[in-house]
Amino acid sequence: MDDVDLCDLDAFEQGTVWASFDRLRRGAPLHWNPEPAPNAGFWSLTRHADVVRVTRDDAAFSSEVGGANLEELDPEQVEARKSMLETDGARHRALRRLLAPEFTARSLAGYEVFLRGLTRMTVDAALARPAFDFVHEVSADFPIRVLARMLDVPEEHTDQLIAWGNRMVGNTDPDYADVLADDEASERYRLLPFRSPAALEVFEYGFDLAARRRGGSGTDLVSRLVNQRPEDGLPLSDRDFRNYFLLLVVAGNETTRHAISHTTRALLDHPDQLAVLSAEPERIPAAVEEFLRWASPVYHFRRTATRDVELHGRTIRAGDKVVVWFAAANRDESVFDEPYRFDVTRTRVDHVTFGKGGPHFCLGSQLARLEIRIMFEELIPRLDGLAPAGPTTRMRSNFINGIKRFPVAAHSSEESPHEH
Ligand code: HEM
Repeated sequence: MDDVDLCDLDAFEQGTVWASFDRLRRGAPLHWNPEPAPNAGFWSLTRHADVVRVTRDDAAFSSEVGGANLEELDPEQVEARKSMLETDGARHRALRRLLAPEFTARSLAGYEVFLRGLTRMTVDAALARPAFDFVHEVSADFPIRVLARMLDVPEEHTDQLIAWGNRMVGNTDPDYADVLADDEASERYRLLPFRSPAALEVFEYGFDLAARRRGGSGTDLVSRLVNQRPEDGLPLSDRDFRNYFLLLVVAGNETTRHAISHTTRALLDHPDQLAVLSAEPERIPAAVEEFLRWASPVYHFRRTATRDVELHGRTIRAGDKVVVWFAAANRDESVFDEPYRFDVTRTRVDHVTFGKGGPHFCLGSQLARLEIRIMFEELIPRLDGLAPAGPTTRMRSNFINGIKRFPVAAHSSEESPHEH
């Protein structure tokens, strides 16, 4: 398996990485992936059971020691960039609980009417055009508008929030990054999340909101963050606040978007599956789980071993980087029958798209589910007549399984949607 290199961004951009995931999962479930210096290399885990085990065992596999991304950080960088996602133990729980009540299914139910109205508006405006880019007109716009509402910021700021998210998460994609993360020029941004200058703008924006909300009675996410004391008694530092705020902007922006694009593409490519949901829309809520498995918008997160761990006959040494490939685990044939079949009637879809039962399990999972359900309840009845109208382009990233462009067009009834 020495020829498999999960740092090879071409394979992700071209969509050929899935064959490598399959080979590793079957033949090398614990695979050592060398990296160019100064990075030391990492272990890859691609089986469902292993991904679940590692994400649940935060004592042996820390998010805090070296962060949650592949980039190797020195202690100063770890400290400066740390958010809840890169914190273990009691402090992590305290930070998470600050906002967890806002993200329960029960709290979010209050957004359903707003979301449905927003979805209809977004979808109707897009479909009124004969041809458009689905990412730009539908997927990118919708999740960020929801977040803007939760942060209580004006709708006119959504384009700016999208652009910040792209610049940060797209830090390995020349279409998005101002400074590529592997370029020497990014060295001056080494203390910023994603090594991205966009982070500075996000911090400034967040601090400005915080200053205006501190001491007020607002119920938006920023007000909640600045006006509560974490349950461990330690106040939220400026570092805690800015990195928390930035995490929300990225996580609420760059993931649900791609889930919507991948799913729409899959429905257009599999008219039989679209027909099932058009005929029986009551199946859509359950089908959301297959949409999430299929899309797998987050390829991986990283942990650092805190002690030696034996696995598959090899030893992960304390200090080693361990990467859990959620996307690969979502194609594990020991869990999913014919994993490459997009099947909206699957039951008990035990995907790891949001992680699985570990302390860092996606805080926004219920929000993402709600957004995706409403989007497809509104979109599916209107999809008839829409077809891909050109190549779909993927992000150049082994972190986010993102779609950059997805041109679609209304086709006449004589035309087959598969001709494109
Ligand atoms: C389809 C959409 C989404 C996907 C695929 C996704 C995926 C993930 C994954 C894989 C994790 C880490 C899990 C782990 O390490 O165990 C995570 C964590 C997180 N997600 Fe999401 N996410 C999505 C949507 C959202 C949304 C809409 C928000 C809300 C703003 C959000 C906020 C977060 C936060 C704050 C964390 C860190 C939680 C912690 O460290 O305790 N996510 N997400």
